[in-house]
Amino acid sequence: MTADVVVRGGTVVEAGWSGPADVVIASGRVTALAAPGTAPAAATVIDATGRLVMPGGVDPHCHVGFTSGEFTSLDDYRQCTTAAVFGGTTTIVDFAIPRPGENPADVAYAQREKATQGLCDSALHACVVEWDETVPDQLAALVNDGISTVKMFTTYRGETMADEDTVLRTMTELARLGGMVVIHCEADHIVGDAQRRCAAADHIGAANMAATRPDLAETASVAEILAIAEAVEAPVYFVHQSTAEAVELVAAARRRGVRAYSETVAHHLILDDSAYNGTHPERYVCCPPLRSSAQVKALGRHLFTGEVTTIGSDHCCYDTAQKESRATDVRAMPNGLPGVETRLPVIFSEYVVRQNLPATRFVELTSTNPARTNGLYPRKGTLLPGADADIAIWNPTVEWQITSTALHMATDYTPYEGMRITGRPETVLVRGRVVVDQGDLQDPTPGGRHLKSGPVI
Ligand code: URP
Ligand code: ZN
Ligand code: ZN
Repeated sequence: MTADVVVRGGTVVEAGWSGPADVVIASGRVTALAAPGTAPAAATVIDATGRLVMPGGVDPHCHVGFTSGEFTSLDDYRQCTTAAVFGGTTTIVDFAIPRPGENPADVAYAQREKATQGLCDSALHACVVEWDETVPDQLAALVNDGISTVKMFTTYRGETMADEDTVLRTMTELARLGGMVVIHCEADHIVGDAQRRCAAADHIGAANMAATRPDLAETASVAEILAIAEAVEAPVYFVHQSTAEAVELVAAARRRGVRAYSETVAHHLILDDSAYNGTHPERYVCCPPLRSSAQVKALGRHLFTGEVTTIGSDHCCYDTAQKESRATDVRAMPNGLPGVETRLPVIFSEYVVRQNLPATRFVELTSTNPARTNGLYPRKGTLLPGADADIAIWNPTVEWQITSTALHMATDYTPYEGMRITGRPETVLVRGRVVVDQGDLQDPTPGGRHLKSGPVI
């Protein structure tokens, strides 16, 4: 057995098990998990004594340079993936969202060209807004080209909202092709009504964000979409579920045999709606909004019980000036929070360290399951032989504090400013290349590849 790189002396953490092992790497792939001390000699030997050696994170929900309304988020592939690797994430899944008049396939094919600017690999979700007779052929081409997941929205009327018939037809067609709809669920009529009532009371600024998009809007929409998926026997993945009720609806459907999956995102698992009472409520404006602290606790409990499938970031890199410019009316604000770099540390610290979530479950939620739901497993999301050697070597006990100035995202703030964290990834490998070494950028060479999805789980 020959090796280019060996990661020696650490505890390997996979989704189903953890234990001491040396990771042997050749030509960018894991070739063996060797008993400690038995790995062959290698040009590069990384000492991981006292460290957790995990498959790099797979972020299933990441908006790069995302345009919505009059705003475009501020990063490109190089910036977003630089921040990602510092945060232990080595694969991102971005979205190709058509503007009015554009077609889904053209937008996705243009977006995938950007992958080579990345420091790590990336995949794509396409997006269908409106059904027409060209959509089946576009979907067939996309799935054939390895873009198997399609984002849909039940909100943002007049922009990206799709009607129920479009959702049903897209789901049906994609199921036939081996792909899957990934869907943002908030019933737009309930949101619209809440916004109208807030506006009438002159409560439509950022501080009122939670009231403008109530929990019920999400529950109602999830129920409707589950019914469609069940009727047409299609798989469906619910993005950024923010309430325990929504997750429970999906879990109940899964028990009936529906192939339905729940994604949560880090900010809904850590932050609550008290952020809207602070000095910068606009910085926390995202859809769905931050929920009550009781809801955050209830949602977090589902990480332990298995109801939740994945944890993403829903990274959207707007800065304070963009957020402030429309802060008096949430209907015109850019939605979304920067988070690709902080997703793993905040979840590790809060749930693994403070609440005793098993590290194996952390890997399952943040790496293995996102790889599976995006048709990237076992190339990504595992350190089993044959996988790409995307590795995050974590110091599980180091204590540090989040400050935006020390982060790498293309914005001037983080919603976690000042938060005390235990544990962080120190050294990160992408396909066997050391990209981050002890917290320093070792290799900024863009080497990202666009990943073709195989069949989703
Ligand atoms: O607030 C959010 N989530 N912004 C990004 C667009 C979306 O809905 O995912
Ligand atoms: Zn969304
Ligand atoms: Zn999103």
